[in-house]
Amino acid sequence: MAIPEMQSSALSLLILLLPILLYISYHLARTLTKKKTTTHGLKSHPLLGHLPAFLRNRHRFLDWSTELIVASPDHRMGFWIPGMRTGIVTANPADVEHLLRANFANYPKGDHATSMLRDFLGRGLFNSDGDQWLWQRKNASLQFATRSLRRFVVDVVQAEVANRLLPLLRRSNAGGDVLDLQDVLERFAFDTICMVAFGHDPGCLADGGTLAEARSDLMHTFGEAQDLIIGRFLDPIEVSWKVKKWLNVGTERRLKKAIADVHAFAMDIVRARRRSASLDARDDVLSRFVASDDEALQDIVLSFLIAGRETTSSALTWFFWLVSSRPDVVARIADEVRVARESAGTRAGEPFGFDALRGMPYLHAALTESMRLYPPVPIDSQSCAADDTLPDGTHVGAGWSVTYSAYAMGRLAAIWGDDCAEYRPERWLGEDGAFRPESPFRYTVFHAGPRMCLGKEMAYVQMKSIVASVLEEFVVDVKKDAAGGVPEHVLSVTLRMKGGLPVQVRRRVVPGGAE
Ligand code: HEM
Repeated sequence: MAIPEMQSSALSLLILLLPILLYISYHLARTLTKKKTTTHGLKSHPLLGHLPAFLRNRHRFLDWSTELIVASPDHRMGFWIPGMRTGIVTANPADVEHLLRANFANYPKGDHATSMLRDFLGRGLFNSDGDQWLWQRKNASLQFATRSLRRFVVDVVQAEVANRLLPLLRRSNAGGDVLDLQDVLERFAFDTICMVAFGHDPGCLADGGTLAEARSDLMHTFGEAQDLIIGRFLDPIEVSWKVKKWLNVGTERRLKKAIADVHAFAMDIVRARRRSASLDARDDVLSRFVASDDEALQDIVLSFLIAGRETTSSALTWFFWLVSSRPDVVARIADEVRVARESAGTRAGEPFGFDALRGMPYLHAALTESMRLYPPVPIDSQSCAADDTLPDGTHVGAGWSVTYSAYAMGRLAAIWGDDCAEYRPERWLGEDGAFRPESPFRYTVFHAGPRMCLGKEMAYVQMKSIVASVLEEFVVDVKKDAAGGVPEHVLSVTLRMKGGLPVQVRRRVVPGGAE
């Protein structure tokens, strides 16, 4: 070939390859300039990634990830584990706002998580994305906004306090028994969520009898199903639960049985409501979904049970434990309750009105502060749909899991100041004594953005009603080993206390009066 011919064919080759070269150099440049998430103090094995560190710390995942996050200047950690997914755990408020609001559409729960939970939760509000989620959210929000639901919540909660909780504590006081307060609070929450959401009273806190016991068994079965299904997420070898499920052995066999029992309970509720032919004539949440088929209604029932069953009980268990070593906080709450009684003209043991419960700013602050340190939903994961960049330029890949840790956020001096480890309700009060809320992207206990918790107000009504009524009448002595430090928690969807919270209640001595 002559030289000019060679030159012209080289030129044509170059022209042909130019787009490919440009494409490669563009992506190379992007990769080199992308900010990566590095985790201070966490070593990555060349083949196993962070698996060795994960296996060593899996049993204390919350504290481990919090230590790493607190030590990191970006307040996040990245992880890569073969067989599991690549991901980020963040406590950075700018990241949280980006995930939960600014780029919400790019961070759904995702097929990976929803398919793992599908056997249990179907396609209910908690376990769906896109249109499936949106229509349920709209319907449920409409119901939560009604005045009638608010009144109904107050009535249901107050009746449960007056007719079941206080009598149970009085019996326990008379007998000098040690009670597991966490268990009592879980029964309370199960009864009230069933009544508010589906107009059904399971009577878990009702007085004794085999029926009440059978109902509590069901509540425990629900807890077992929930914990076992979360075990799927914590298994470092992801196919292993699928194999166990296929072979119907081990935890998957137990899970299958627990799910069948829970589904039968949920379907009984649905069928009973259909039979009563008054599905749409009530104030509860289910009445909003009257047009759905039975299976969809069952999924809705399960989503509300998940939402309301262990959240308030977890919050209150940690609260009662925290204040057991803070008589100053208990005394201020008791004072506030006394003043609320005087201005409402009611007496101890009588129901508090909605307005009284919306007031009591110190009690509100004491609960909010306790959930800052012990958030009922300690971590919450979403999935990244398409490659993205966090506000500080850090790359997030499609398919990665992106988790925010409310638990770590509550322990960040960058958010709460140097006294962040201290339980100090006053940090929530203005000089005028009024409660000062914090941005939901910094205080993420109730989530934030379009998927923010729908039951927040109901949760406060319930928690304030319980604390005010209990502390007005009783002193709660925690029987946990005082030298044992912070009680251990169970790693599940909610922050449950391992082994429960043993307490003894004593009648409070009213100043100037008898017991
Ligand atoms: C202290 C108590 C509570 C806390 C800390 C809490 C916290 C949360 C959190 C973190 C989420 C987001 C979960 C997710 O990503 O899937 C959530 C969602 C939700 N919560 Fe609550 N919750 C509480 C009580 C309740 C109660 C009593 C109800 C009553 C029905 C409720 C209803 C809901 C619902 C329906 C959602 C789903 C919202 C959606 O996906 O659009 N929550 N809550």
